[in-house]
Amino acid sequence: MARLKVGVLISGSGTNLQALIDDCARAEAESEIVLVLSNQADAFGLTRAERADLPHRVIDHREHSSRAAFEQALSQALEASGVELVCLAGFMRVLTAEFVERWRDRLINIHPSLLPAFKGLDTHARAIEAGVRFAGCTVHFVRPEVDNGPIIVQAAVPVLPDDTAETLAARVLREEHRCLPLAVRLIAQGRVSVVGARCVIDAEAPGGALVNPAPGP
Ligand code: GRF
Repeated sequence: MARLKVGVLISGSGTNLQALIDDCARAEAESEIVLVLSNQADAFGLTRAERADLPHRVIDHREHSSRAAFEQALSQALEASGVELVCLAGFMRVLTAEFVERWRDRLINIHPSLLPAFKGLDTHARAIEAGVRFAGCTVHFVRPEVDNGPIIVQAAVPVLPDDTAETLAARVLREEHRCLPLAVRLIAQGRVSVVGARCVIDAEAPGGALVNPAPGP
């Protein structure tokens, strides 16, 4: 069976890209990364792509006269590579509604919070400030409104009493590295359908509930 062709957009360290690279290395992988694009020339994720012998290039938003021209360059590169699913993996540019509609339901993003809570930036510091007991990450289909869209996968982690934004971020990032590959696998297996504002997913849900703090003896 032909593997789903995946394009990955990055801006930085690319640890989520690395998680996808590692997952696609499985013998039974249902997807393959055919292009990595970064808007930042110094993104370490480009080194990760090079080491994995993946096609990669920089499309610098600063070298384009408009957001539309930048996004046209992105789409042209993605389409030239036959990309069927675009993953935003730490991509730090806001995309216009035109781009989102062009790639509607073929464009996913990973966000470091349990959406719809904590949209935007500094999610971990805000979660700690708010005193929530659980934080986490969300993989969702992209819609024109930032950090919105049908949710595919979420992971929840406990917020610990001595957590800092850095310690919480590290705990969430480990789950991001599980959730993004899982979302791509589910999509590649044809087990995700978008019904209105939600996803219907042909997969088991975990049993039981998480409680934080843990109930004492
Ligand atoms: C991740 O925390 C992701 O949730 C957020 O940006 C960070 C990117 O990390 N969008 P990396 O570049 O994948 O390491």
